[in-house]
Amino acid sequence: MNGVEGATATDAVALLERTSHAVTFAPGALPPMALRRIVEAGRLAPSLYNSQPVRFVVVRDRDAYARLLAGCNKSRDTFMKARKVFAAMNKRLNNETFVRGLERQRSGDVLPEHGFAIVTLQDDTLTESIEACSCALMAMQLEATAVGLASAFCSWTRGLGFQKDMVAMLGVPKGFKIFTSLVVGNPVAPLVAAPKARRPFDDAVTWI
Ligand SMILES: Cc1cc2nc3c(=O)[nH]c(=O)nc-3n(C[C@H](O)[C@H](O)[C@H](O)COP(=O)(O)O)c2cc1C
Repeated sequence: MNGVEGATATDAVALLERTSHAVTFAPGALPPMALRRIVEAGRLAPSLYNSQPVRFVVVRDRDAYARLLAGCNKSRDTFMKARKVFAAMNKRLNNETFVRGLERQRSGDVLPEHGFAIVTLQDDTLTESIEACSCALMAMQLEATAVGLASAFCSWTRGLGFQKDMVAMLGVPKGFKIFTSLVVGNPVAPLVAAPKARRPFDDAVTWI
């Protein structure tokens, strides 16, 4: 498939070829144990000195998911309103690609309907907890694809830090902060390998 001897349809490259950022999911329950397998991949992900500064909150309950979705939209709306003030303090918020993405999410729901969210929490007292959360998120997305589920990342859960009701609903322990979430769901069509809009290999990679 990718020209590497011994590679199979379940290697990481083959899984990534089938993974795409899902904007819609089909309704209905997930296959048995799917969420557990996915979050298990996150639990097994590496962290600095095996510090394991990540916790996972699995949002299965439909009412809780609806509240999370509303909370994420509120997070987006609050950010959008104060955007210029934030951008004056942090020039990264003026990055062209970032601004284009924001414009696409200006309205509508930032979480797909019919999803199941795995919210990652980062230990705020530990360096490298961001990297650990990122490793866990990617491990979980690969596992979601491996079990045939569609998935999406949502950074808007991070803005929930100021929303006490969301923090309470998720049961965020003291010293932890909400990080990015992985949302998984039934695909609207079986996952297939598709070309990715990615930087060409030789632009992205240098060999020394
Ligand atoms: C850490 C992380 C956070 C992300 N957060 C969001 C988000 O909040 N909203 C969104 O629409 N996409 C988000 N994305 C998804 C990217 O937009 C998506 O992966 C990218 O568009 C590539 O899509 P593709 O994998 O379908 O090619 C996030 C991706 C990553 C890696």
